[in-house]
Amino acid sequence: MSASAPLTLWHRARLVTLASPQGWGLIDQGALLTRGEHIEWVGAEADLPAGLEVAQCHDLGGALLTPGLIDAHTHLVYGGDRAREFELRLQGASYEEIAQAGGGIVSTVAATRAASDEHLWQSARHRALALMAEGVTTLEVKSGYGLSAEHEARCLRVARRLGAELPLTVRTTCLSAHALPPEFAGRADDYIDAVCAWLPALQAEGLVDAVDAFCERIAFSPAQTQRVFEVARGLGLPVKLHAEQLSDQGGAALAASFGALSCDHLEYLSEAGIAAMAQAGTVAMLLPGAYYFLRESKLPPIAALRAAGVPIAIATDHNPGSSPTLSPLLMLNMACTLFHLTPEEALRGMTQHAAQALGLADRGQLLAGQRADLAVWGLHHPNELAYGFGQRPACRVVHAGRWAAPLSP
Ligand code: NIG
Ligand code: FE
Repeated sequence: MSASAPLTLWHRARLVTLASPQGWGLIDQGALLTRGEHIEWVGAEADLPAGLEVAQCHDLGGALLTPGLIDAHTHLVYGGDRAREFELRLQGASYEEIAQAGGGIVSTVAATRAASDEHLWQSARHRALALMAEGVTTLEVKSGYGLSAEHEARCLRVARRLGAELPLTVRTTCLSAHALPPEFAGRADDYIDAVCAWLPALQAEGLVDAVDAFCERIAFSPAQTQRVFEVARGLGLPVKLHAEQLSDQGGAALAASFGALSCDHLEYLSEAGIAAMAQAGTVAMLLPGAYYFLRESKLPPIAALRAAGVPIAIATDHNPGSSPTLSPLLMLNMACTLFHLTPEEALRGMTQHAAQALGLADRGQLLAGQRADLAVWGLHHPNELAYGFGQRPACRVVHAGRWAAPLSP
């Protein structure tokens, strides 16, 4: 924060601070002062310090002001689509059967490898803009559809470019251990060796903020996942895991033993997994879009996660196979209707706890010292964020203290 940067006042707003562990932290007739990229003061307008020299003043006309949304689990960069696979699933084929028959993730890998750099960029940019139109100011983007050193790097460079060219913070995650590419058929351990070998070069190019894997019967075993995590640890990179989505592999406990930032999906999470996550301070990243779209029926153990004090986050999991949504607000709604979260838990899951899932302590609440990443909504009460679905409420975002100008898709 630059102490000399001028002060900006944002006033006539209804603030949703989420400042305490529970409750919305509502401040009617609230105001917020920002200096440069950071929040300097939050409170009731009537309590604004006297004698301030404010360089700019934004009248928000009574709008609702929340922390900017954080979509902390997406697979935004890929080629092609999986609409045909959706039809097959509607006719009775399961996600696992399609993957085992050579469809699923590896079909997106083929389309991604065949796509031009320009197509990957334009399509990812379009998706990022759609997320920003619903309040997103920080976005995680995983690789995992390239599955070779060259194509993983290509996808991660597109992710980095999103952060460089849009008013958006992007955190990148290397998910090379997502599926077995065809050239390694029958040689999963050799593929893991290759991933372990190219990870340092991706990190050296500045492309990796964290490392993820898909630990599942149709993907990689706990032992293979552990090998990738050991390399990540050696490089000083935090880990996270697609864990217990379709079966209980003990992935959550493994990830927790590496101090994972988050374990994601978790429909089949065991008591032991919950205890390990609670102990390690690992966030439970729940993905209602994938649960819905794969027509899962086993719910993640929400009550037990709550009882154990594991922070719950929510994300879109945007990807072409299991969650082709670009609506974070729909995810808040589904977190409530499908996963029985309260609207407040859902919003906290896409702000404060999502920040924690990315290892970012500087965002997710409206507090002095945090980044001035804000979402301004044409709504009256924060419970409306999870209540409507498909309504597209008026929304503008502020990134690093500045209005993000509406960008054309
Ligand atoms: O988060 N579970 C693994 N990965 C993605 C799905 C990827 C795909 O089907 O293309 C997920 O659901
Ligand atoms: Fe995912």
